[in-house]
Amino acid sequence: MSGSSTARRTVLKGAALAGAAGLGAAACSTDSKVGHAENPTPTAPVELGAADAVPVGGARLYREQRLVVSCPAKGSYKAFSAQCTHAGCVLDKVEENEGNCPCHGSRFDVTTGQAVKGPATAPLPVVPVRVEGGRLVAGPDA
Ligand code: FES
Repeated sequence: MSGSSTARRTVLKGAALAGAAGLGAAACSTDSKVGHAENPTPTAPVELGAADAVPVGGARLYREQRLVVSCPAKGSYKAFSAQCTHAGCVLDKVEENEGNCPCHGSRFDVTTGQAVKGPATAPLPVVPVRVEGGRLVAGPDA
Protein backbone atom coordinates (compact mmCIF):
# COMPACT_ATOMS: atom_id res chain seq x y z
CA MET A 1 0.00 0.00 0.00
CA SER A 2 2.96 2.29 -0.03
CA GLY A 3 3.74 1.91 -3.68
CA SER A 4 2.67 5.33 -4.83
CA SER A 5 5.20 7.42 -6.61
CA THR A 6 4.84 10.62 -4.75
CA ALA A 7 7.84 12.85 -5.08
CA ARG A 8 10.09 13.10 -2.14
CA ARG A 9 10.51 16.47 -0.69
CA THR A 10 13.93 17.94 -0.71
CA VAL A 11 14.72 19.55 2.57
CA LEU A 12 16.85 22.58 2.19
CA LYS A 13 19.57 22.91 4.71
CA GLY A 14 19.76 26.62 5.17
CA ALA A 15 20.20 26.79 8.86
CA ALA A 16 23.80 25.68 8.95
CA LEU A 17 24.98 28.93 7.48
CA ALA A 18 23.01 31.16 9.79
CA GLY A 19 24.84 34.25 10.81
CA ALA A 20 28.05 33.89 12.74
CA ALA A 21 28.82 37.56 12.85
CA GLY A 22 29.63 37.79 16.52
CA LEU A 23 33.17 36.55 16.44
CA GLY A 24 34.71 39.66 17.88
CA ALA A 25 37.53 40.21 15.47
CA ALA A 26 36.98 42.30 12.40
CA ALA A 27 39.00 40.18 10.04
CA CYS A 28 36.23 37.91 8.92
CA SER A 29 36.19 38.34 5.19
CA THR A 30 38.24 35.26 4.44
CA ASP A 31 35.72 32.59 5.37
CA SER A 32 35.82 31.04 1.96
CA LYS A 33 39.51 30.40 2.37
CA VAL A 34 39.15 28.24 5.44
CA GLY A 35 40.21 24.90 4.07
CA HIS A 36 42.91 24.31 1.58
CA ALA A 37 45.20 27.27 1.52
CA GLU A 38 48.14 27.88 -0.70
CA ASN A 39 50.29 29.14 2.13
CA PRO A 40 50.17 27.12 5.33
CA THR A 41 51.78 29.95 7.27
CA PRO A 42 50.99 33.67 7.26
CA THR A 43 52.87 35.90 4.86
CA ALA A 44 52.03 39.02 6.84
CA PRO A 45 51.48 39.73 10.54
CA VAL A 46 48.16 38.42 11.82
CA GLU A 47 46.64 39.82 14.98
CA LEU A 48 44.99 37.18 17.14
CA GLY A 49 43.55 39.27 19.94
CA ALA A 50 44.27 39.27 23.65
CA ALA A 51 47.26 37.15 24.58
CA ASP A 52 45.62 36.03 27.80
CA ALA A 53 42.87 34.33 25.80
CA VAL A 54 45.31 31.44 25.48
CA PRO A 55 45.19 29.46 28.72
CA VAL A 56 48.50 28.95 30.52
CA GLY A 57 49.46 25.33 30.00
CA GLY A 58 46.93 25.04 27.22
CA ALA A 59 46.33 26.15 23.68
CA ARG A 60 43.82 27.97 21.56
CA LEU A 61 42.82 27.32 17.99
CA TYR A 62 42.36 30.29 15.65
CA ARG A 63 40.60 28.48 12.89
CA GLU A 64 39.87 31.42 10.64
CA GLN A 65 43.51 32.43 10.75
CA ARG A 66 44.57 28.77 10.41
CA LEU A 67 46.80 29.04 13.47
CA VAL A 68 47.07 27.36 16.82
CA VAL A 69 48.85 28.98 19.75
CA SER A 70 49.99 27.21 22.89
CA CYS A 71 51.13 28.79 26.12
CA PRO A 72 53.56 26.51 27.96
CA ALA A 73 54.14 29.12 30.68
CA LYS A 74 52.73 32.50 31.52
CA GLY A 75 53.90 35.05 28.97
CA SER A 76 55.41 32.40 26.70
CA TYR A 77 53.72 31.47 23.45
CA LYS A 78 54.30 29.09 20.56
CA ALA A 79 52.37 29.24 17.34
CA PHE A 80 51.95 26.72 14.57
CA SER A 81 50.04 26.48 11.36
CA ALA A 82 46.70 24.81 12.03
CA GLN A 83 46.64 23.37 8.56
CA CYS A 84 47.02 19.61 8.60
CA THR A 85 50.17 18.41 6.91
CA HIS A 86 48.38 15.43 5.40
CA ALA A 87 46.08 17.02 2.85
CA GLY A 88 45.64 20.54 4.08
CA CYS A 89 42.43 20.57 6.10
CA VAL A 90 42.26 23.01 8.98
CA LEU A 91 42.23 21.52 12.46
CA ASP A 92 38.79 21.73 14.02
CA LYS A 93 39.50 21.50 17.73
CA VAL A 94 42.14 21.16 20.39
CA GLU A 95 41.68 18.64 23.17
CA GLU A 96 44.26 18.26 25.91
CA ASN A 97 46.85 19.96 23.74
CA GLU A 98 46.18 17.72 20.77
CA GLY A 99 44.86 19.33 17.64
CA ASN A 100 42.40 17.22 15.68
CA CYS A 101 42.08 17.10 11.91
CA PRO A 102 38.47 16.42 10.93
CA CYS A 103 39.33 15.04 7.51
CA HIS A 104 41.17 11.80 8.23
CA GLY A 105 41.80 11.88 11.96
CA SER A 106 45.37 13.06 12.24
CA ARG A 107 46.31 14.58 15.57
CA PHE A 108 49.09 16.96 16.44
CA ASP A 109 50.76 17.93 19.70
CA VAL A 110 50.11 21.67 19.67
CA THR A 111 52.95 22.33 22.09
CA THR A 112 55.52 20.99 19.63
CA GLY A 113 53.70 20.73 16.31
CA GLN A 114 54.55 17.04 16.05
CA ALA A 115 52.11 14.64 14.43
CA VAL A 116 51.08 12.12 17.08
CA LYS A 117 48.55 10.22 14.97
CA GLY A 118 48.46 9.63 11.23
CA PRO A 119 47.96 9.67 8.40
CA ALA A 120 49.91 12.92 8.75
CA THR A 121 53.56 12.44 9.62
CA ALA A 122 55.09 15.88 9.13
CA PRO A 123 54.87 18.39 11.97
CA LEU A 124 52.83 21.55 11.81
CA PRO A 125 55.05 24.40 10.62
CA VAL A 126 56.19 26.81 13.31
CA VAL A 127 54.92 30.37 12.98
CA PRO A 128 56.65 33.25 14.75
CA VAL A 129 54.46 34.83 17.42
CA ARG A 130 54.94 37.80 19.73
CA VAL A 131 52.99 39.92 22.15
CA GLU A 132 52.45 43.57 21.36
CA GLY A 133 50.56 45.60 23.91
CA GLY A 134 48.97 42.50 25.38
CA ARG A 135 47.86 41.21 22.01
CA LEU A 136 49.21 38.26 20.10
CA VAL A 137 50.63 38.88 16.68
CA ALA A 138 51.66 35.90 14.57
CA GLY A 139 53.53 35.77 11.33
CA PRO A 140 56.62 37.45 9.95
CA ASP A 141 57.80 40.74 11.38
CA ALA A 142 56.39 43.72 9.59
S1 FES B 1 43.97 16.26 5.84
FE1 FES B 1 44.27 16.01 7.98
S2 FES B 1 44.25 13.87 8.23
FE2 FES B 1 44.04 14.10 6.11
